[in-house]
Amino acid sequence: GTTLGASAAEKGRYFGTAVAASKLNDSAYTTILNREFNMVTPENEMKIDATEPQQGRFSYGSADQIVNHARSRGMSVRGHTLAWHSQQPGWMQNMSGSALRQAMLNHVTQVATHFRGQVVAWDVVNEAFADGSSGARRDSNLQRTGNDWIEAAFRAADAADPTAKLCYNDYNTDNWTHAKTQGVYNMVRDFKARGVPIDCVGFQSHFNNDSPYVSNYRTTLSSFAALGVDVQITELDIQGASAATYRSVVEDCLAVARCNGITVWGIRDSDSWRASQTPLLFNSNGSKKPAYDAVLAALNNG
Ligand code: G3I
Repeated sequence: GTTLGASAAEKGRYFGTAVAASKLNDSAYTTILNREFNMVTPENEMKIDATEPQQGRFSYGSADQIVNHARSRGMSVRGHTLAWHSQQPGWMQNMSGSALRQAMLNHVTQVATHFRGQVVAWDVVNEAFADGSSGARRDSNLQRTGNDWIEAAFRAADAADPTAKLCYNDYNTDNWTHAKTQGVYNMVRDFKARGVPIDCVGFQSHFNNDSPYVSNYRTTLSSFAALGVDVQITELDIQGASAATYRSVVEDCLAVARCNGITVWGIRDSDSWRASQTPLLFNSNGSKKPAYDAVLAALNNG
């Protein structure tokens, strides 16, 4: 293939990017988007603060804009994200107990229902595990409603949209030896054993000097896949955009049969949440970087 999306498709996979609705009128941006990618993740537009800014008042305008842009051009959409401790609207931030549990489940139900049939996979729950050496859940208002909040969210999403793939998504879960990785692994193993409807695990893969790519990444992906879930690289960016590191990430995904797609977290360096790290595949002027060539070659050679 001559583009990221076409080359990934030849390997039975997708290649996606995060998209911001506010940039869909930038033709330099949409030219690359429409040419290179066949999966789209709304960067912020499906988050709780965007979709339910006031309790019970849902707002889908910019998310629908992205979904329509993508689907009318044959791209698929990953939904991000239904339940998260961060980017909660003000009304939710201060809720607790059964009222919060009910509000969270209603949010999952309403949003998954709105996008039913339009989203191939949902990040149902995002970033629920703590950093550091505990391997435990992150403390949050959602966690304080009871340890079963994650499986409750998955069951609500499954009821609202039975065909979407339902994913757990997190960062710093790349290194197989880290406690956080093992904590997520144990949760997924438990969910599969008890029939909680989980289909996939997303590895954000924001690699930088503090949390670098490590060679046991492939072991991490294959170990999770062996639990009976798909694995996806959901928010890839690499500080400095080393071509060799990008190549390794792609090769690791291609080596794992159930690694069915890669998403980079933005198109041009200027689109990145970490723009100063120049972590993406395109320069701010839209030209291809050496990392782009390495990714394309890895997709075509693997
Ligand atoms: O749109 C407003 C703008 O009107 C306002 O003037 C400006 C002032 O701060 O803020 C703008 O909103 C910002 C938004 O990005 C759009 O640029 C928010 O403040 C800012 O918090 C938000 O950051 C996003 C971040 O998630 C929030 O948690 C990033 O774009 C987004 O890339 C980032 O994505 C997360 C994933 O969802 C989960 N994994 C980690 C990843 C990186 O942090």
